[in-house]
Amino acid sequence: MCGIVGYVGSQQAAPLLLEGLTRLEHRGYDSAGIGVLSGSGLKVAKRAGRVRDLAAALPARFAGRVGIGHTRWATHGPPTDANAHPQVDAAGRVAVVHNGIIDNAAALRRRLSDEGVQLASDTDTEVIAHLVARSVAATLEERVAAALALVEGTYGLAIVHADFPDRIVVARNGSPLLIGVGDKEMYVASDLAALVRYTTTVAHLQDGEMATVTAAGFTTYRQDLTATVTPAEELDIDPGAYDVGEHASFMHKEMLEQPDSAEHVLRGRLDDRFGTAHLGGLGLDARETREVRRVKVLGCGSAYYVGEMGASLIEELARVPADAEAASEFRYRNPVIDPDTLYVAVSQSGETADTLLAVQEIRRKGGRVVGLVNVVGSAIARECDGGIYLHAGPEVAVASTKALTNMFLGFALLALQLGRVRDLSIADGHRLIAGLRALPAQIGEVLKREEELRPLAERLAAAESLFFVGRVRGYPVAREGAQKFKEISYRHAEAYPTSELKHGPLALVSPAVPTVAIVPDDELVERNVGALHEIAARGGPLVVVTHAGVDLGEVAERPDVHRIDVPASERELDPILLTIPLQLLAYQAAVHLGHDVDKPRNLAKSVTVE
Ligand code: F6R
Repeated sequence: MCGIVGYVGSQQAAPLLLEGLTRLEHRGYDSAGIGVLSGSGLKVAKRAGRVRDLAAALPARFAGRVGIGHTRWATHGPPTDANAHPQVDAAGRVAVVHNGIIDNAAALRRRLSDEGVQLASDTDTEVIAHLVARSVAATLEERVAAALALVEGTYGLAIVHADFPDRIVVARNGSPLLIGVGDKEMYVASDLAALVRYTTTVAHLQDGEMATVTAAGFTTYRQDLTATVTPAEELDIDPGAYDVGEHASFMHKEMLEQPDSAEHVLRGRLDDRFGTAHLGGLGLDARETREVRRVKVLGCGSAYYVGEMGASLIEELARVPADAEAASEFRYRNPVIDPDTLYVAVSQSGETADTLLAVQEIRRKGGRVVGLVNVVGSAIARECDGGIYLHAGPEVAVASTKALTNMFLGFALLALQLGRVRDLSIADGHRLIAGLRALPAQIGEVLKREEELRPLAERLAAAESLFFVGRVRGYPVAREGAQKFKEISYRHAEAYPTSELKHGPLALVSPAVPTVAIVPDDELVERNVGALHEIAARGGPLVVVTHAGVDLGEVAERPDVHRIDVPASERELDPILLTIPLQLLAYQAAVHLGHDVDKPRNLAKSVTVE
C-alpha cells in the first residue's frame, strides 16, 4: 500500500527520497512523487507509474535539503499524475503525503469548493493541503493541528510548507510513521525498509501524536500541541536483511531463509523438562491458560489460512474448540465476544487494517486477544493484550513465505502450551518438541529440491485453471497453496476439500485442469488415494504432495501423475512441510511466466485500508 518518506538535513533531498521510495516499492503502488523545499520555494514532481519513471522525468534542477515523497496505491480516484502525492494547495506552498483514508473527504471537498477553492485532484488527501494553507495560525504545527481537527479518518501524514522551510510536520492516526535519527539529519518513513540504510535509531509515533522534524532533531506532541515523550531507540536489525543479495527476488531469498527463521521463532521457547512451550509474552499464567474454553483465530489471506492450520492444531493438542475466521468479515457480523474465548490475531505486517479493526472490536467488547505478529511494535502488536513475536526477520516480497511458516510454528507453540495445562501428556509434549526441533532442517531438505520441481511448475503454469485439494489438516494447506499460486502466477487456482470433489468440482476435472492433491500419510490416506483415482479416471493431471511410504496404487503409473514426497514429521506438524513445495511450485511457475514475483499486480504487502 502507500508509502511515505521524508528527509531534512544537509544533503540534497531528492536522491534520498527516490532511494527511500524504491525501498518501499514492495508495498505495492501505482504512482509516485516527491516534493522538496529550497530558498526558491516548493518544487513537486509526481506521476503515475514506477519510481524509476519518476526519477527519469525529474527536472535537472530539483535542489532542496528538506523533502517528502510518496508511493500511492489508488483509493480515491484512479492512478493519474494529478492524483499522485504530494498533494498541494492552490498557491503551491503546502505539500502533503498521506497514507490512510479521510472518511469525511467528500464533505470537506464540498465545503472547500463552496468557499471558492479549485480542487485539482480526485483525492481525499488534497483537502488537507488546502486546509493547512487556509489556516492563519502562527506556526506550521498549529496550522496542521487546526486542519486535522476538521478531518475524520486514518492517516500517516508528512507535510511541508514553503513558509517554514526548515521542517517537516508529521502526524499519525492509524497508519504507521517512524522518525529516523541521523547525524544532523533526520528521516521520516512509514516503513523501516526505507530507513535502515541510513539509520537504525528510530522513534515510533503513536496514534494521535504529531511531530516536528528538523535537521537538529524532533519533538513530539498531541494534536492539542501538549508535549509527549517518544524517545528514539536503537533497533537491533541487520540492514542487510532488507537487501536482495545474490537472489533473483526477495521471495526467493525469503523462501530459502526459512530453515534459519524457523529456528528463530522456536529459540528459547521449548521447555524440555516439562515437555511444553514458554510464551511469556502471552501474559497468561497457568490458571488463565486453563480457563480458556475456546480459541478463535483471526487473520486475512494467507494469515487466515495458516490460522486454520493453527486452529486445528490447537483443537487436536489442547482439545479446546478452535476455529479461524477471515478478520475482514468478522467485524461486520456483530460477533458475540465471549470472555472465556482466547482470540488470536495473526499478521505478518501487524498493520492489516481488517485484522486491526477486528482486534479493536474484540477489545471494545471486553474480549482478550493475543497477537501472532512479525513486525515488532506494529499496530496490531501494540493493540493486543499479549502475543508471540514471529522473529522471521523482514519480509519484503508480497507473497508471504517465511512469516507464514513462523506463524504455523507460533501456533504449534501455543497449542503445546494450551495442551500441556490440560490433557496432553508429557510424553506427547516431548514427542512434539522433538518434531518441532527437526522441522528447520526438514524444511531445508524440501527447499533443496527447487531445481527438480521446476519442470513440474512449468507444466502447471501452462494450465489456465487448477484445483488444490486436501482434507482436514491438508485442506488449509491446499487453500494456502492455491492462494500462493494464484497471487503470483495469475492462474485461476481454487482450493476444495478433497471430500467435496464429487459434490460439484469434479465436473471441471479434465486433461486441461490439473489438480494438486495434499495426501499426507495420516488416518485419511486411503480415502485421499481413492479421490486421486476419481480424478485420474477423468483424465485430470495430478501433482501429489505426500510422504514416502504412501502407495498411490495404479494412479502412480500414469504419465500425467507426479509425486512430491516431503520428509515425515509428527503428524500434527505435517501441514508446514506439505506447504513448502507449494511455495516452490508457485514461485517457479510465476518466474516461468515472466512475472514480477515480488510485486504481483494489484496486490500490496500491507493492506492498511479496509
Ligand atoms: C499472501 C499474502 C496476503 C497476506 C494478507 C495478510 O501471500 O501475503 O494474503 O497474508 O494480506 O497480511 P498480514 O499477515 O500482514 O496481516
